[in-house]
Formats: sequence, structure tokens, C-alpha cells
Amino acid sequence: MDESMTATLTQRALAARSNAYAPYSRFHVGTALITEDGQVFSGCNVENAAYPEGVCAEAGAISAMVAAGGDRKIATIMVAGKGPAPCLPCGGCRQKIREFATPRTCVLVVDEDGALLFKDNLHALLPSSFGPENLETAPEGKQA
Ligand code: THU
Repeated sequence: MDESMTATLTQRALAARSNAYAPYSRFHVGTALITEDGQVFSGCNVENAAYPEGVCAEAGAISAMVAAGGDRKIATIMVAGKGPAPCLPCGGCRQKIREFATPRTCVLVVDEDGALLFKDNLHALLPSSFGPENLETAPEGKQA
């Protein structure tokens, strides 16, 4: 990914982060992703007084991508948290990203100022994963 696209993702992730609804943790997170065909979608964490009902920023960006109805292959997803510890996607979000990932899908983490803290493939964060291909075999009991 070129520098201008990284700058675009950073700007979009930070903009989403500024809209985060996180009155309970006070930990604001923004995400921006770019699909393989170049569309950018963003999301922020949205917490809830019933704590477990809160949703992560990554989930919001993925929902926006799916709702738009176009390409669903994530080329790169960026998470903007608060440094210095990189706000890496939680386990659940790694699996959510996995659903729309390719072997090339890249995860970037920046801090609240847009400084890059982490960059690697999703595979490094979620090796030996379960994905849509696992369900492509014929259902049990319906084989010839
Ligand atoms: N959070 C995210 O939105 N994404 C992450 O990758 C890690 C954590 C949110 C969930 C919760 O609203 C807050 O950060 C603190 O955990």
C-alpha cells in the first residue's frame, strides 16, 4: 500500500475515533479499512450501559463494508487507539476480519496521533484459523 493510501486510512481511522462512544472505558478506538477494489470504510467503538453489548470499532467498519454491497475482500485494516501500547484487534475482531480476509490482508495499528505502532498480516495475528472454506464441504448426511 502506498503512502498516500496509508495517510487516507490514518485520517479516516482518526476521524472515526473522534466519534467513538466510549463513556465507560473512555478508550476511544477508530478503524478504517480498504477493500481490494479500493473502497474505504470506517467505524468506531460504541459502548453500552449493558457492558457486553458494546461493539468494537472493527465490527463497525466491517458492517459498513458489507452494507455497501460491493467488494468484501479486506486489503488493509487500520486500528487507531491510544499509545504507546498498540491497540491490536481483540480475538473476536481478528475472527471477524478473518471472514473477509485474504492471505494478503494487512493489519496496521496507529496511536492517537497517527504514528504507526504495528504492521503485519492478519495471519500472524490469527494463525491456523477457521474460516468460510471450512464450511464448503457437503453438509453431514447429505452426501451421496
Ligand atoms: N476496542 C475496540 O474497539 N477495538 C479493539 O481492537 C480493542 C478494543 C474497544 C472495545 C471497548 O469499547 C474499548 O475498546 C475498551 O476495551
